[in-house]
Amino acid sequence: MRALEPGARGLATLRLAYPPAVAETATESEFGAALLAGLRAYPKRVPCKYLYDAAGAELFERICDLPEYYPTRTELALLGAHREAIAAAMGADAELIEFGAGAGRKVSLLLSALQRPRAYLPIDIAPEALAAGARAVAEAFPAVAVKPLVADYTRALRLPAPAGRRVGFFPGSTIGNFAPDEALAFLRRLAVLLRGGGLLVGVDLVKDPAVLHAAYNDSAGVTAAFNQNLLLRANRELGAGFRPELFAHYAFYHPGARRIEMHLTSLTDQEVQIAGHAIGFAAGETIHTEDSYKYTVSGFQSLAAQAGYLPREVWVDAERRFSLHWLAVPA
Ligand code: TRP
Repeated sequence: MRALEPGARGLATLRLAYPPAVAETATESEFGAALLAGLRAYPKRVPCKYLYDAAGAELFERICDLPEYYPTRTELALLGAHREAIAAAMGADAELIEFGAGAGRKVSLLLSALQRPRAYLPIDIAPEALAAGARAVAEAFPAVAVKPLVADYTRALRLPAPAGRRVGFFPGSTIGNFAPDEALAFLRRLAVLLRGGGLLVGVDLVKDPAVLHAAYNDSAGVTAAFNQNLLLRANRELGAGFRPELFAHYAFYHPGARRIEMHLTSLTDQEVQIAGHAIGFAAGETIHTEDSYKYTVSGFQSLAAQAGYLPREVWVDAERRFSLHWLAVPA
């Protein structure tokens, strides 16, 4: 897979220490097929998972440190402030599975609070980010078996036999990047894996649209670069002819749908070559690249209940910006 090439030297060492098992992941041809299908549709849209190649995962880590991007800070603060209650809810001797593992900052807080965690299974679609995060966690927690898995968790997952009662960790309000019906289906699928355990999930809350707007339109332009990386990825992997300066980052909050929508807007009439196909764009036409749904606490709890979970605890910051839910799964 080409995405493995850039950090190849560093990764080789990492792979010896923590061989990430590679399950199904986005191959170039899969990306190419999805991109072409999405750009031939009307309106044009591309599944958001393709934003997260190595470069996209790095840009996302930078988003997490932006002053306007409150979710990461707020979720870290909630994990720190409620670590004991969270650890008590998750229980001792658990196997912790993280969906969409990043640099390992959040899970380290969690692992330091848990009692005798047996194993940590980080799952991510970006192999480089996964290997780096897994190494950091393995160094900090030598008693925990770290078993990274390169996989697209939006598909069926085959996991190794559990080392203990399984508990899931799904931070960052990534659940909000699914449409509500997809979120419901995804949560149902996870519940099967987590039977008898539970899921700790971070969910961004409905709030003042101005706060939301700023979080997805940062003044340093990192979110814009993250969005435009989709076009650069198509150029790198598929030899596409996108000129990123002819597509503008456009993100807005839709209060009725309770979601941030992110688009790339064509600044002119243009035609772009992608793997031998010409795709036309009218000036002002957009590619819809990602959504970020926001929930009320009770709205999310009722979604979780519909998916078969028992919403047991929820932690919210004083400004009511972000929520962390502990959802138990009946045995
Ligand atoms: N899970 C993140 C979120 O919904 C992903 C994200 C970061 C994102 N920046 C974005 C999604 C910009 C859409 C637009 O906040």
